[in-house]
Amino acid sequence: MKTDILRQKFLDFFKSKKHKIVESDSLVPKDDPTVLFTPAGMNQFKRQFLGQITDFTRAATSQRCLRTDDLDKVGKTSGHHTFFEMLGNFSFGDYFKKEAISWAWEFLTGELKINPERLWVSVYKDDDEAYAIWKDVIKVPDKKIVKLGDKDNFWPSEAKAKGPNGPCGPCSEIFFDFGEGVGCGKAGCDPSCSCGRFVEIWNLVFTQFNRKEGGILEPLPQKNIDTGLGLERLAAVMQNAANNFETDLFQPIIKE
Ligand code: SER
Repeated sequence: MKTDILRQKFLDFFKSKKHKIVESDSLVPKDDPTVLFTPAGMNQFKRQFLGQITDFTRAATSQRCLRTDDLDKVGKTSGHHTFFEMLGNFSFGDYFKKEAISWAWEFLTGELKINPERLWVSVYKDDDEAYAIWKDVIKVPDKKIVKLGDKDNFWPSEAKAKGPNGPCGPCSEIFFDFGEGVGCGKAGCDPSCSCGRFVEIWNLVFTQFNRKEGGILEPLPQKNIDTGLGLERLAAVMQNAANNFETDLFQPIIKE
């Protein structure tokens, strides 16, 4: 499936779930002194997360992103780029964990027909609620739900200890298993291993805190959802490509 079709399918899916489709924000944000470039879909919605704008409570975007943190990894991994697009659905005090998890699963396994056997998930180590939804509602087997800590399953990563200030919360990630033939080949390999076998494709953030100076996590007046699905990684999965560079996004340029 071509990447342009994937992007459109995502937006159409969330439009059918009553989301307002919002244009990508500029790659160089105008009013956010905390970042040089737009690193995620949520950045243009910070004021909605803080309850300062209430025009709509559901949105979906395909956001143009650049992560300065990624630059050192470009060319060394199959899934980091100087520029990428992040598909995202957002709830501002509207739906929360159950819908975010259920719709992500429905989009991947129902709409795109990705084999559920190839998907694994992670949850924040203390997030029993998200764990129970994956296990009891979605029926993901225990052994494919991995509990991880502040570095991997809190967004922004390690925000509790290091910041930045602003909206943040625990998250749950969905991984695609590229198979035993890829990566370290160890028997216990799972999404906590960075060998490349398991690639994170979608991050579901349960944005429920506002981090204040000194690492204080103040509960937000409303609970929010911020998700990010990597378009280039999803394209690799859907095109049976070994990595993002083998997809229709990069191959015409590489061949030329
Ligand atoms: N903000 C989260 C991320 O960038 C989810 O969109 O991973």
